[in-house]
Amino acid sequence: MAVLTPEQVAQYHDLGYVFLPGFAPEGVVALKDRMTQLVAQYEVGERLVAFETVSNSQGKAEEFLASGDKIRFFLEDEALRDGRLLHPKDLSINKCGHALHTDDDVFRAFSGDPRLGELARQLGIASPTVVQSMYIFKSPLIGGEVRAHQDDTFVTTSGGSSCLGLWFALDDASAANGCLWVAPRSHSKGITRRFVLNAERTECHFEPAGAPEIPDIPPEDYVCIEAKRGDCLLLHGSTVHKSDRNTSGTPRNAYTLHIVDGSTPMSPDCWLQRGHARLPLPS
Ligand code: FE2
Repeated sequence: MAVLTPEQVAQYHDLGYVFLPGFAPEGVVALKDRMTQLVAQYEVGERLVAFETVSNSQGKAEEFLASGDKIRFFLEDEALRDGRLLHPKDLSINKCGHALHTDDDVFRAFSGDPRLGELARQLGIASPTVVQSMYIFKSPLIGGEVRAHQDDTFVTTSGGSSCLGLWFALDDASAANGCLWVAPRSHSKGITRRFVLNAERTECHFEPAGAPEIPDIPPEDYVCIEAKRGDCLLLHGSTVHKSDRNTSGTPRNAYTLHIVDGSTPMSPDCWLQRGHARLPLPS
């Protein structure tokens, strides 16, 4: 049964995003509860890895490259000083990824919702397959900025088709606590750069991808996506989006999935490789 209306499908292709209010109001509560358990079990230990959301230099981190088929935690860049945590553990985590959708029962059940496969097919993805998941914490006062980018930079198929991003609000999200900002129609210009795995498979770096660098899109051209817990944003992989720091006292947790056509291999130099966690979404 169709999940999206014809108008929503048309908006996705025209603007590069569709907002679905109230998509999963109960499911996201289960995700948040489960993550509370996973965080409690997480031992920070000696391998302190910060996820540098602004510089995107995480490509050099062995921990990051090894996380495509695992559940790993990454800390906020500003949470560390001289290798030590400055804040409590639960406030210091930037994200958890990238295989929650296959390696955890609660997240797998949510990620395999038949509605996700159906809406992906409505948007033109013949064999929708989840290849990446992330739980984004954006904790009060410490949650970092994510600069303007396109998700196709990081999730690249050999056929050049775009990924579909799904962003679920696990808390109410506003401009104050770092909600998403989206640049309508920016997907029509193609992608500007790719996150490329080197031949030795030891690090990633950025390479130009054909389109001019992300232009200096003026702030007024972004749409502020304020959301309520349980809302979902569908994002074309080439749509430019960003989020600000969380300067408020309230969290802005979110869960994201990236879906590609499973019949198309990932690019050989995409950091997410064939052996990484995949969740086909059957019809
Ligand atoms: Fe993104």
